[in-house]
Amino acid sequence: MPTQLQPPRGTHDLVGDEQRRHTHVVDTARRIAAAYGFDEWTTPIFEDTRVFSRTLGETSDVVTKEMYTFPDRGGDSLTLRPEGTAGVCRALVSNGLTQSLPQKVFYAGPMFRFERPQKGRYRQFHQIGLELIGPSEPLADAEVIACGWAILQALGVAGETVLEVNTLGDRESRAAYRDALVGYFTQHQAALSQDSLARLDRNPLRILDSKDEADRRVVANAPVIAGHLTAEAAAFYASVRTWLDRFGVPYRENPRIVRGLDYYGHTAFEFVTGKLGAQGTVMGGGRYDGLVEEMGGPPTPAVGWAAGVERLAMLLDRPPPMPAPVAVVPIGEAAEATALGILQALRAQGTRAEIAYRGNLRRRMERANRIGARAVVILGDDDLAQGVAQVKNLATGEQEAVPLGDIVGRLR
Ligand code: HAM
Repeated sequence: MPTQLQPPRGTHDLVGDEQRRHTHVVDTARRIAAAYGFDEWTTPIFEDTRVFSRTLGETSDVVTKEMYTFPDRGGDSLTLRPEGTAGVCRALVSNGLTQSLPQKVFYAGPMFRFERPQKGRYRQFHQIGLELIGPSEPLADAEVIACGWAILQALGVAGETVLEVNTLGDRESRAAYRDALVGYFTQHQAALSQDSLARLDRNPLRILDSKDEADRRVVANAPVIAGHLTAEAAAFYASVRTWLDRFGVPYRENPRIVRGLDYYGHTAFEFVTGKLGAQGTVMGGGRYDGLVEEMGGPPTPAVGWAAGVERLAMLLDRPPPMPAPVAVVPIGEAAEATALGILQALRAQGTRAEIAYRGNLRRRMERANRIGARAVVILGDDDLAQGVAQVKNLATGEQEAVPLGDIVGRLR
């Protein structure tokens, strides 16, 4: 026997119920995003490596340890996209849209990160996301969050999540805060993990995000950014919260949210749940006013979020039911042509319909039951001679002779 091949570590097949959950999440998000004025874009799954290395942060985990980067046969360095925002900003510039703002973009598709797989964390996963590019107003931040909240509500999972918001301030606020953090963490160096000591120089804000127990005890008393905000940054944050109140989106402030990618300033937020164990963030995002410029475009404000489709799918109560089919059962060769006509007319009106490929009446009825058919159309020679067929409702067991011309309409 040849060795059975498995999917690569950290990837999974979507089959049956899992695919249905997945499709339901993406379809629901696409529909709600459209109502909020977002149009769908599809960008390549791999990009020039610089699209990500320039923008996500040289010290971020994603860039330092998690990218699938490879030279292609032409010698170019390509990277499987670890997230969608950088590609959307690259596409904005490539397509000459930087003067046609605002652009409201929805996207859905696979992303790739070389992470240690566990429940809710994969190497190939899927995101839905929104990017609102152009407006610098706090209303825009609140609108993308409100749309995310509406999607969670439509999926029936909003009650399982809490929205946590924070501000990362403007450049000046962050510089002051960074100094305060370096001062504080330097005093507590002895208690910090190796990873956090390395972050102390390069990106002290990231220490706030550490999962290490000892780090967390130090972080608990670390200064918060609120005391270091410029008046403008504080006013911006206050305005985002006012708009969230007006949209009716409940939230909690969490000064420890720093996000794992470096392009954020001002608003940072996450929808978190206690239902998925360690991987509790279902949706995360914020404002990233410098990214389009780093991609070679003009200075362009923007805000957005992305959500993990697998994580949302796990929160769904049950997958949406598949419509029960109608089974068409001809008895004898003479009935087969008429059966095919009815089968195709049912499908043309959108009714899911099936015909068995072989077998006698009993076998075909058994199969109709097995596929969960709601009704069976039985076509026998005698009935056909009278212009009728038997329609059996499998839920009630009732059977009735129906004129051939009425069958399709009855089974809408
Ligand atoms: P992120 O926080 O890196 O942000 O990812 C967003 C969401 O993707 C996470 O909250 C999580 O639900 C899901 N996710 C991330 N990594 C994995 C994984 N390995 N397995 C399963 N799910 C995962 C971004 O990607 C930003 N681009 C969001 C954004 C858009 N910011 C502004 N616009």
